[in-house]
Amino acid sequence: TKRVAILISGGGSNMVSLVQDMQSGDHPCEPVLVVSNVPDAGGLKKAVDLGVETAVVDHKPFGKDREAFEAELTRVLELAQPDIICCAGFMRILTETFTKRWGGQMLNIHPSLLPKYKGLHTHQRALDAGDAEHGCSVHEVTAELDGGPILGQAVIAVEAEDTAETLAARLLAWEHKLYPAVLRRYAAGDRSMLRLG
Ligand code: GAR
Repeated sequence: TKRVAILISGGGSNMVSLVQDMQSGDHPCEPVLVVSNVPDAGGLKKAVDLGVETAVVDHKPFGKDREAFEAELTRVLELAQPDIICCAGFMRILTETFTKRWGGQMLNIHPSLLPKYKGLHTHQRALDAGDAEHGCSVHEVTAELDGGPILGQAVIAVEAEDTAETLAARLLAWEHKLYPAVLRRYAAGDRSMLRLG
């Protein structure tokens, strides 16, 4: 079985969907660690309730020193010896040092149809552009922010009455389907693109 570590910063609903799928049996992976950079992230309690080991690496004491924060994050991750790292609502920009250290074994989920709308406020940007479709992407993490090879996307229709909040909520349900499906395929060595929706 492949050992999976999950990085979070918030509510951790994607982390829960990944862990529940891994714990459902007939899965090539096991969840070995959930790490949050936010000490009071809601996802930490959810991970504990699911029986997964947790750790906190707070970025705040490191100030602007991203490399020092990431060195500590790498130290904590190395103790868990993950084969795969899943960023799931992990809201830190990563340096080239970190992305190179874990390159080829790190995934991220992003709430847009990449390469559109890298970065923040993706739902509002899709609305402002008048897009008929929106979606989410799971991609390999490289040094380029939200820029690595895309492994899966789920597409939803934008409705006339949508706000950033309704769009985000509807998309999140698809994130919860997409990320576990992509992780299963990735762990089995399948890098082809999965399309849902
Ligand atoms: C998700 O919508 C995820 O796609 C997004 O944050 C949310 C986390 O929710 N990630 C990013 O914006 C990454 N730049 P969760 O904590 O409930 O999984």
